[in-house]
Amino acid sequence: MNHVTVIGSINLDTTLRVQHMPKPGETIHAKEHFTAGGGKGANQAVAAKRSDAETYFIGAVGNDAAGSMMTDLLSQEGIDISGVVTLDRKSTGQAFITVDDEGENSITIFSGANNDITPSQAQSFKAVIEKSDFIIAQFESAINSTIEAFKIAREANVRTILNPAPALKDVPSELLAVTDMIVPNETETEILTGIKVVDDQSLEKAANYFHDLGIEAVLITLGSKGAFYHVNGHSGIVPAYRVKAVDTTAAGDTFIGALSSVLTKDFSNLEEAIRYGNRASSLTVQRFGAQPSIPFKQELI
Ligand code: ATP
Ligand code: RIB
Repeated sequence: MNHVTVIGSINLDTTLRVQHMPKPGETIHAKEHFTAGGGKGANQAVAAKRSDAETYFIGAVGNDAAGSMMTDLLSQEGIDISGVVTLDRKSTGQAFITVDDEGENSITIFSGANNDITPSQAQSFKAVIEKSDFIIAQFESAINSTIEAFKIAREANVRTILNPAPALKDVPSELLAVTDMIVPNETETEILTGIKVVDDQSLEKAANYFHDLGIEAVLITLGSKGAFYHVNGHSGIVPAYRVKAVDTTAAGDTFIGALSSVLTKDFSNLEEAIRYGNRASSLTVQRFGAQPSIPFKQELI
């Protein structure tokens, strides 16, 4: 069983289901409204745990109702949340999500407490990071703390997985220097590399851009097309499952969390792990909401 630590965001998600996305200046009626657990970090932790990884979380919430609701959800999953701090005078992160009838979404986030995870918090969780197989991070929380956590991991031979989402134009080179695997989607790949991925050649080129920065494994998720990998001289696309998507929120998070639960530290079973991640996220996209849509291992085997 893999041990997975996630450092990152916890959000209360508020979703509105609409027929079509509102245009600028337009007011429309939503046909449904619901709230659920979300945040890229928390979703990835839930996906890892539901696939039976021993999962630890480093994060921050505000001292408010949303914070206690979100941390209760994570501990009910069996995730170790001793690395989550509750901050006075801060609000818990929130995401406002609109999903249309095509399953497309648009998301606005308010980071709140997620921006206040500190490097010393990562330091005080050193022992847990060191006993992990993988540590995963995203870009919805304080980046200096992620750098600190990844440095601790690198020293201890723990594999680091960076999901550069939402995309940042300038990623600190200090972080990339301690990243073993990067997992962007197509848009994030273009923002980070300047290369629009449209075919095998551009995928290869983008992968080499990341390898030149010292990153060993590159995984580019391609939505309904699946995922491209490039590692240690091997590359290919593992196709997605053909399903009818109603809401793709947390598809990428499910993919990464599920993958981390089965991946070996030498990445030798990457193709098989991607197939597992594809299967997990193909279920997520057929359900509404972030955490409520993430499947359990029993549904996947
Ligand atoms: P999101 O931001 O919506 O959580 P993402 O943009 O980070 O997702 P995607 O590349 O869209 O990531 O999707 C991640 C994985 O989810 C894909 O590699 C694929 O396995 C699965 N997936 C996404 N969309 C679909 C779909 N329409 N049908 C089947 N599988 C899908
Ligand atoms: O990746 C999906 C997540 O992005 C949502 O749960 C929302 O909180 C936003 O952070």
